Amino acid sequence: MSKSFQHLIDLNDYPIPWWNKIIKLGHDIKNNPHKYSDVCKGKIMATLFYEPSTRTQMSFQTAMIRLGGNIIGFDNPTSSSVFKGESLKDTTKVISSYSDVLVIRHPSEGAAKAASLTSDCPVINAGDGGHLHPTQTLTDLLTLVEEKGRLHNLVVGLCGDLKNGRTVHSLCKALSCYPNNQFVLISTEDLKLPAYVKDVLTVNNCKFTEVLSLDEAISELDVLYMTRIQKERFPSIEEYLAEKNTYILDRKKMLNAPRDMIVLHPLPRVEEITVEVDDDERALYFKQAEYGVYIRMALIDTILKSKKGLQNLVGQTYLGVSCSNQRCITNSEHYLPKSFSGIGDIVECEYCDERVLLK
Ligand code: CP
Repeated sequence: MSKSFQHLIDLNDYPIPWWNKIIKLGHDIKNNPHKYSDVCKGKIMATLFYEPSTRTQMSFQTAMIRLGGNIIGFDNPTSSSVFKGESLKDTTKVISSYSDVLVIRHPSEGAAKAASLTSDCPVINAGDGGHLHPTQTLTDLLTLVEEKGRLHNLVVGLCGDLKNGRTVHSLCKALSCYPNNQFVLISTEDLKLPAYVKDVLTVNNCKFTEVLSLDEAISELDVLYMTRIQKERFPSIEEYLAEKNTYILDRKKMLNAPRDMIVLHPLPRVEEITVEVDDDERALYFKQAEYGVYIRMALIDTILKSKKGLQNLVGQTYLGVSCSNQRCITNSEHYLPKSFSGIGDIVECEYCDERVLLK
């Protein structure tokens, strides 16, 4: 039985006032950083990055250093004992006894949830495969508050790899909880938003349309959220090449965008936004990356101060039933208890949200 901590696995595990509190704190940290320069003195944050990262890892590290704390971790699992075959469970168990908070990025979906089951300190999901990226979403929400002044009444266009883009999944789930937001989902047929995320939009009464053309959609948007085609999630290079460069935002397309539309991108970009767009005052993706430090300072401070915990697994096990998503962590770390939520013949894997047919 694991201890109960305030992990951050999925933003939607928490109520909206909790998100708003962190965003407000991020805003205050941005304006008054000196007030927070030693709030984590004596604390240690471990960053376990099983997948490459620039922004998430370094903004977390910068955030902890700016809060007066210390950092340990790895950014290349082949230089750790993971290379010798150590399980996620054992790595998590040991490193959580060295630190006060674990930040984990992993290629398998549900990995952060799995890590939280055996961790002796809070776990923060820094991206689990193509599933979720809640701290990028907090970054995006702070950016919208700072740059658009609101989190409601927005027409948000999301463009590119909506199937594999974890930042898109987390952002849609979060923004659908604020009033009167609409979504224009711009992608090819093969890279559409997963059904489980569209169901969240529907349940939250959000209007959304699925379109193929960025040119046609751009004039109606308040926010354009561009994304990279996630090469590493494709089964073959041919399938990736067939999708690459379908959507490229350039100066010509920006001519049709509203004057007050903003362009966001979680980065890294490859070729989906041309460099000439960087000089447009509506291009805010570098500023967005900077906001990532303030919001992660707010998150670390909040999580380390919290005494309240969340339950880890709340679903059910069914004899002989495994998750059908081959990228789910339960299909590589076999000791993990399988757990499914929901009722009826179709249930959802509690780690990766995959829908599984029981019969
Ligand atoms: N936005 C984001 O997750 O970037 P990195 O992959 O560089 O961390």
